[in-house]
Amino acid sequence: MSTNIAVIGGTGMNQWPGLDIERRLVVDTPYGPASAPLLEGRIYGTRAIFLARHGEGHKIPPHAINYRANLWALQQAGVQSVIAIAAVGGIAPWFKPGEIAVPADLVDYTWGREHSYSDGRPGSTLQHAEFAEPYAQALRRALIEAAARAATPLAGEGVLAVTQGPRLETVAEIRRCARDGCDMVGMTGMPEAALARELGLDYACLAVSVNWGAGVQGVGDIHAEIAQSIEAGMAKVRAVLAAALPAL
Ligand code: HPA
Repeated sequence: MSTNIAVIGGTGMNQWPGLDIERRLVVDTPYGPASAPLLEGRIYGTRAIFLARHGEGHKIPPHAINYRANLWALQQAGVQSVIAIAAVGGIAPWFKPGEIAVPADLVDYTWGREHSYSDGRPGSTLQHAEFAEPYAQALRRALIEAAARAATPLAGEGVLAVTQGPRLETVAEIRRCARDGCDMVGMTGMPEAALARELGLDYACLAVSVNWGAGVQGVGDIHAEIAQSIEAGMAKVRAVLAAALPAL
């Protein structure tokens, strides 16, 4: 039986209650191996596939993730809808550490990543994917409504800046993101969203703020901030998933 919902988990989601694994699928792709075996089973009772974006053991840095293999493998497994969980830094004053959001748009600052299936290889086709609205509206809506049902209010929607990493940003870089209209910053939202679009998958992001972006509230120890806020944020992510998945 194919499973048409996938959750791609990032920082803070290596193992979590609610994930009941029945099968581990190792899918071969033309782009090489996915970050990890696809874990097929139930997430809070709903059939779904879980993929650890940074690999088992959380070792693959954002710029070295094989995003093409990950999305391809999910599609091969029958997935149609992808919920991407992303830990981010808050830029807008409303997106405090420990809060969650469902971004409506993004700005891509990444470089040098394998970011398209239209790569000029023999057999590939040239596709200019529509990307004016990078996230699938119905899936975003489902997450927003699930958050309301779960009494886990979203801090907002907003615009995600996707930076190259793995280093964190400078104060001036975060100021630039803010001037560009970004409300939060992460390192893995692209090319993941664009590749999903190229494959015709529905893709939405559930972002969890785990720190303030550099300089937003002064300059401090971001890692200590993350350690302090990640559990509160991930508890909200889990509550939204538990409410969203049965309704998809
Ligand atoms: N910047 C980029 N990516 C992040 C951050 C940040 O401050 N926090 C979590 N992911």
